[in-house]
Amino acid sequence: MSWFSGLKAKVLVNEALAKHTTLKSGPKAGLWMEPFDKEDLKALIKRCGHLKKEYFILGLGSKVLFKSKKVPLVIHLGSDNFKRCVFEGSDIIASAGVSLNKLLAFAYENGLGGLEFLSGIPASVGGALALNAGVGWPVRLEIGTFVYEVEVMDRLGRVRTLSQEELKFEYRGSNLKSRVILGARFRLFKKRRKNIRIKMDKFRDYRKATQDLEHPSAGCIFKNPNGQASGRLIDLCGLKGSRIGDAQISAKHGNFIINLAKADSKDIVSLIKLAQRKVKAKFGVTLEPEIQII
Ligand code: EPU
Repeated sequence: MSWFSGLKAKVLVNEALAKHTTLKSGPKAGLWMEPFDKEDLKALIKRCGHLKKEYFILGLGSKVLFKSKKVPLVIHLGSDNFKRCVFEGSDIIASAGVSLNKLLAFAYENGLGGLEFLSGIPASVGGALALNAGVGWPVRLEIGTFVYEVEVMDRLGRVRTLSQEELKFEYRGSNLKSRVILGARFRLFKKRRKNIRIKMDKFRDYRKATQDLEHPSAGCIFKNPNGQASGRLIDLCGLKGSRIGDAQISAKHGNFIINLAKADSKDIVSLIKLAQRKVKAKFGVTLEPEIQII
């Protein structure tokens, strides 16, 4: 009998993580588990707790680089029960597994504005909340500003709803990282659909014009230090286009590392280190990754 027998979940053995990350690189997950609903997730988390099994919760894999040889257990909230969106007045209640694309389409359908700046970010609601996804143009806008409450599960399987006062969002971070995010209530505002569409297009067009969306990547690799643009600093070091194996610092945007074909995670890590070294030497600035490196 395996340690997970009796648990209700879709289980895949030796699942390639390259399939589940936007960088399209990484080793295999010994086990990939998708519990069917909250109760199954709770049972799984509790079992992991008893057996002291480490696990990693993966959303849509847009801000993670798996560099270890093997990841023992990945939990993904991919079942339909974690992909629900409902609206109540000006609020949308979305489960953690909902993609931002779906959330925005739902907001648009229901004439609710506010989140248009997230247009085109390939994340799930859970991932976007944990990292407080946002943009820097034309002003800084972040998902956390629109969150009214968040439902979480702790590492003992206990479910709680965190109120606005208990939530802490910061630039590319939050106090949600150590918990399993189950869903959130977003407080939005009524807006004409036509204007929602115009705004979504504006953000999408800016990203298309300035970012390398043609190749697999994790979006920006580094946070912007103290208001300076990491992409610009990397650019000024003459690093755009630098290549190690199939990993390359994008020629279009210095803060993007792209996968040209079959980039190895260790080549991506080498490029990260190269950029950090050069920027430190030239500007005395430490670049901190905004992606999680596992
Ligand atoms: N720049 C260069 N060279 C480059 C890249 C940028 O000189 O190779 C200059 C640009 O010309 C501009 C400045 O740097 O003057 C800022 O560039 P950009 O507008 O592209 O924004 P960013 O600061 O690089 C931030 C977010 C992005 C977000 C954009 C647009 C961070 C780390 N990045 O990028 O978020 O999409 O603003 O709102 O905060 C992400 O987090 O994955 C991400 C892509």
